[in-house]
Amino acid sequence: MTTLTLPRWYDLHTHFRQGANVAEYIADHLAMGCAGALAMPNTKPPVSAIVGPKTESSWSIEAYREDLLEAGADAFDRLIVPLYLTRDTTPEMIAQGAASGLLEACKYYPPHGTTNSEHGVPMGEWIGGGVFRAMEEHGVVLCIHGEQHALTGSAYFDENQTAESVFYTEVLPRILEAHPRLRIVCEHITTQEAVDFVEAAPSHVGATITPQHLLYTVGHLIQGLRYHLYCLPVVKFETDRAALRDAVRKVGQSKFFAGTDSAPHTTKATECGCAAGCYTGGCAPQLYAMAFEEAGADLSSSEGQDAFQRFLCSNGPAFYEFTPSSETFLLEKSPSRTESRDLPEGPVVALPEGMDLELTWSIG
Ligand code: NCD
Ligand code: ZN
Repeated sequence: MTTLTLPRWYDLHTHFRQGANVAEYIADHLAMGCAGALAMPNTKPPVSAIVGPKTESSWSIEAYREDLLEAGADAFDRLIVPLYLTRDTTPEMIAQGAASGLLEACKYYPPHGTTNSEHGVPMGEWIGGGVFRAMEEHGVVLCIHGEQHALTGSAYFDENQTAESVFYTEVLPRILEAHPRLRIVCEHITTQEAVDFVEAAPSHVGATITPQHLLYTVGHLIQGLRYHLYCLPVVKFETDRAALRDAVRKVGQSKFFAGTDSAPHTTKATECGCAAGCYTGGCAPQLYAMAFEEAGADLSSSEGQDAFQRFLCSNGPAFYEFTPSSETFLLEKSPSRTESRDLPEGPVVALPEGMDLELTWSIG
């Protein structure tokens, strides 16, 4: 049996939400060898302030972090909460937040482009402005949900273009041009265009990739309308999946790293739509290992293990400039299962169960 002894890893894009389920989501992350996380700010209310008590309209990074720590995140050795970029964000907040150490990253959401993204401000309004200039000056990372917002049906998703490909070909180059020193994470990338952009960009531009985008294509989503696979950006075509798989396996690559985008929803399908987000708490390393194998990696070889470890454990901390964990966890080539549980605020179905996928790896 192949057993990998890996440094505990960091999920550099995940959703812990708010309320009574938070402790369960964090526990699932700890159980899968996570040493830390970057917890997304699209909570209710959004994390759109740096310090101060929670109010009806906003959480501060300080207060949200405290709540997560109390719910079990104190067992992590790293917890990053980015600031949700809204109309209230100012250059002064960036400077003060960076000086206090609380602000390491800001998150761009395309308005109305995904779950709880209605507070987002269109990218065109940020480019060249004081907030991005302050981020550049203070080394604050820009986390980007890279999809063009407000496109109509065929422009949003079609054989020749998607909201993501439009964003990476038309908008991202403008950000680099206007802000050449800005550290950027292209989050949960799904397309060949995004891979090409990141590979050609300077070393302070990196990207996260989710398990589902390495494992599946839009065909898997549509065949049987498997709504547990519905997330944003939506899974794409075979050429896109192949580009992602090549990118993570490239010898010595340092730009692509784990960020699961694990996004629990207690109600997925409604009468008039479907909540976007796949839950991969408890099973992400297993899914990533399966994806690497499907991509042709031999995880019993040192070359395969090196590529896997770079992606899962080392590239992310290097990008965010913190020391990786010195503790380890085991990932074994033996079957395991995820079970949907009745959580305090309702059940959440993990991706393998929602896709009838047998996990071929387990956490030791
Ligand atoms: C995320 C969520 O549910 O918060 N959903 C998703 O499909 N990925 C939001 C996001 O990261 O886009
Ligand atoms: Zn997300």
